[in-house]
Amino acid sequence: MLPNIDFTTTQSYKYLADHYIDVVSESLKGLFDSDNERFAKFSVQFEDILLDYSKNRVTDQTIALLLQLAKECRLNDAIHAMFSGEVINATEGRPVLHVALRNRSNTPILVDGKDVMPDVNKVLQHMKEFSEAIISGSWKGYTGKPITDVVNIGIGGSDLGPVMVTEALKSYKNHLNLHFVSNVDGTHIAETLKGLNAETTLFLIASKTFTTQETMANAHSARDWFIKSGGKDEDVAKHFAALSTNADGVGKFGIDTKNMFEFWDWVGGRYSLWSAIGLSIALSIGFENFTELLAGAHAMDNHFKTAEPEQNLPTILALVGIWYNNFFEAETNAILPYDQYMHRFAAYFQQGDMESNGKHVDRNGNHVEYSTGPIIWGEPGTNGQHAFYQLIHQGTKLIPCDFIAPAQSHNPLGEHHTMLLSNFFAQTEALMNGKSHEEVVAELKAAGKSPEEIEKLAPFKEFEGNRPTNSILVKKITPHSLGSLIAMYEHKIFVQGIIWNIYSFDQWGVELGKQLAGKILPELRNNDEIKSHDSSTNGLINKYKAWR
Ligand code: F6P
Repeated sequence: MLPNIDFTTTQSYKYLADHYIDVVSESLKGLFDSDNERFAKFSVQFEDILLDYSKNRVTDQTIALLLQLAKECRLNDAIHAMFSGEVINATEGRPVLHVALRNRSNTPILVDGKDVMPDVNKVLQHMKEFSEAIISGSWKGYTGKPITDVVNIGIGGSDLGPVMVTEALKSYKNHLNLHFVSNVDGTHIAETLKGLNAETTLFLIASKTFTTQETMANAHSARDWFIKSGGKDEDVAKHFAALSTNADGVGKFGIDTKNMFEFWDWVGGRYSLWSAIGLSIALSIGFENFTELLAGAHAMDNHFKTAEPEQNLPTILALVGIWYNNFFEAETNAILPYDQYMHRFAAYFQQGDMESNGKHVDRNGNHVEYSTGPIIWGEPGTNGQHAFYQLIHQGTKLIPCDFIAPAQSHNPLGEHHTMLLSNFFAQTEALMNGKSHEEVVAELKAAGKSPEEIEKLAPFKEFEGNRPTNSILVKKITPHSLGSLIAMYEHKIFVQGIIWNIYSFDQWGVELGKQLAGKILPELRNNDEIKSHDSSTNGLINKYKAWR
């Protein structure tokens, strides 16, 4: 059982609310000027990942109170409950055990009294054999040719994780061409299939439930294309594999259950890249690298489970996030990787965080009186600098940002990486320090501007600064360190969900959308005038029917 505590009723919350009034008037610049130890104090390292959270609007007391808050909300009990397989996803009656999928120590993890590790290892062994056969070319398509192209068909967690990881680890890629189809918009599969050869293409149908409308529609279209291209029903076994928890659904679709890679309902969709859903990753970078990804995540799991809260990367990130979300009333959190390979990292955690903590009902079923999960967004640096950083620097909204960068590049080309990193360091410094009136005046004077011009221009050129950032410096993005980074953010989301007293592992809001689309679909199959909805929905549907 998870603890069930309204964090706004705790002592530490009350102290934090008072303390906020003192901190809000402090400048980050001032905090650094008055404390030489700030970086040493407010940075933590785990393996090759350094988290510097010193450029946040926090003092020693803030951190002490936030840690006290975690204690009062019994975070340790919650961590223990997750790792020991308790049914912490209570609204769906399931444990939450993505940590078992990467439990490289292989210690028993019990669900209903049964150790899940033998089944986890069995599927991993199957993934190893299959991926090695495809990569080596010993697996032949229906005309005897080796596979050259792999198309993963899935959506949400059955797409975003594999896409993000295969992109982030592109420099570890082998000869196979990977494609991802997610959108039910026929354009996605049609464009992907253009130029592919059915004889050498493997489809992975990735769906936890094997009922998701988008994935099933794309899977059927892929099968039709395969048959139209010359494949026979009996050839499907060589070209289609399923990654799912639903053996019945897989059988009905016509995929040989020998080509089914199983996982279990205790794996949430947005936490499933570590499961059979990661088969496209194993195919893309090889099974050894896939297990390194798991090992990196496992290392972070152990850190999360055992490190003291003040040394605990996910806990610190979560608490600092709560400080902004619930006291500064920040609405969003930007994730800004200074690594082109990580260009889908923010998109991945948009689902990871927003589908988990986008909840307004607490664990008692009551409407919460406080703000929960933030809006997650972001793009890689330096592209973002030339797009939306203006608003972060000079807009009216407080946007806490996570800057992430590798110290070593996979493509050490001339000065590129040094230039990239100079931007990474410069941005967080500028967001913190801003630019004062005096500095702007001096700059304009040096540029030869007249006193009138200076007076006119100065307000536009000033920066308030005091914009908070975390800097996450990683030695190099490898399968291992990427696994740790992903797990770090997963556990951050968990900690925040615990403190907000919400259920982070269901997603009823998305289920509603699925049901509503299912209801309207039959109405679009004929040309009858629709009157059953509100006037806007009726009007739109009828105009669509007139125009299609
Ligand atoms: O978007 C809702 C959701 O249930 C996600 O949690 C999940 O990742 C996605 O749909 C896809 O579901 P499935 O893997 O069952 O096709």
